Amino acid sequence: MPLDIVVGTQWGDEGKGRIVDLLAAEARIVARYNGGDNAGHTVSAQGRLLRLHLIPSGILHPACTCALGAGMVVNPARLLAEIDELASLGVSVSTERLKLSASAHILTPAHLALDGAEEAGRGASEIGTTRRGIGPGYADKAARRGIRAGAMRDPEAFGLLVEEQVRAAGRLLERLYGLPAPDPRQAHGAYAGYADRLRPHLADVGAIVAEVLERGENVLAEGAQGTLLDLDHGTYPFVTSSHPTAPGALLGLGVGARHVGRVIGVTKAFQTRVGAGPFPTELFGGEAERLRGSGANPWDEFGTTTGRPRRCGWLDGVLLRYSSRLNGLTELVLTKLDILTGLDPLRLCRAYLFEGRELADAPPDPRDLAACSPLYDDVPGWNEPIGDVRSWADLPARARAYVERIERLVDLPIRWISVGPEREQVIRRGAPS
Ligand code: IMP
Repeated sequence: MPLDIVVGTQWGDEGKGRIVDLLAAEARIVARYNGGDNAGHTVSAQGRLLRLHLIPSGILHPACTCALGAGMVVNPARLLAEIDELASLGVSVSTERLKLSASAHILTPAHLALDGAEEAGRGASEIGTTRRGIGPGYADKAARRGIRAGAMRDPEAFGLLVEEQVRAAGRLLERLYGLPAPDPRQAHGAYAGYADRLRPHLADVGAIVAEVLERGENVLAEGAQGTLLDLDHGTYPFVTSSHPTAPGALLGLGVGARHVGRVIGVTKAFQTRVGAGPFPTELFGGEAERLRGSGANPWDEFGTTTGRPRRCGWLDGVLLRYSSRLNGLTELVLTKLDILTGLDPLRLCRAYLFEGRELADAPPDPRDLAACSPLYDDVPGWNEPIGDVRSWADLPARARAYVERIERLVDLPIRWISVGPEREQVIRRGAPS
């Protein structure tokens, strides 16, 4: 059995957690490979809605082991809070069920403070980060002065490393930004305590994943954020600092390419983005509000991590084709189709107009995206509610036509379609060939 990879094809928030939750039923391991608690998905457990930022939703499947890979940056306080919250709901997060790569990097209070300070320092050109310390954490990793999770094996020595890191970063905060620094001694004590609790979860995630794959069992790699936020291939500099794309899964878990099976791209039926950066099909005013929702429902378009309203627009077929190429997608999952009910016409961006020319593909320099105007195909909408539909044949003809139009635009099959927030509100369109 292979390594299947689930990636977001847009700027994150495509509804990957939900699909991972469904696929996890057949997986021995569900593993995160990039990012940290900047991600977030809402899962329903024991009748309660739970927001998870680090632990994959596979944790709700008792037979499934969850892993946090080497490519991640982990805030241990946040991880422990999630473990405790799950435990309070009766979901056991034993050391058997949750493995933390010894090579993952650790976020400290100094990373969080630096993230905020750097954002404020950018002024009008701020990225709109989640302020969870992600960028500064990966910067330390690249500069080879990061603290890896494996250091938690010795809690006291780990506490000392954190203390030194917080002290050094504190000097930067005070001198460069004129801001108060976190207390190094306090961080030392707190992090030694976190290490004591987390060290039994430390593991060689790459080795565990490889062993499970060799045994013929299934592993699901869960990407956080989305393709267009990839550090190298996204809309730089308005990106995150990791690799949410499918190739990122191999490095971020430490597993070879020959194991890859399906590469499943999750795409919303429209486009959203939190934070700054180009967005060619963006809508404003009432049109955007219609797609966003009021915020009254947890699945409305407001950030799971930050609560910020998401920018909304029509589905961008040009960027979806780009995502397909970059990830080597084998299929698509289309989410939130129900939100389009009642909109007529629906618009699908098939190409851009850039400097008087029609572009079928995204311009090589992402900064040029801001000057691209979308060229739309208008598609007739439908008025029938579709939340109760469970089979392809029962969808209104116009909804089917919209889905098929997307398939033709990107030359990929859409295997699953979600028509509402509940687990069962999914239409399956047959097994992959
Ligand atoms: P950072 O990852 O916090 O550094 O934020 C960098 C950019 O990625 C900002 O535009 C964030 O809004 C965006 N971002 C980070 N994580 C997510 C996510 O899980 N969903 C959507 N956008 C995200």
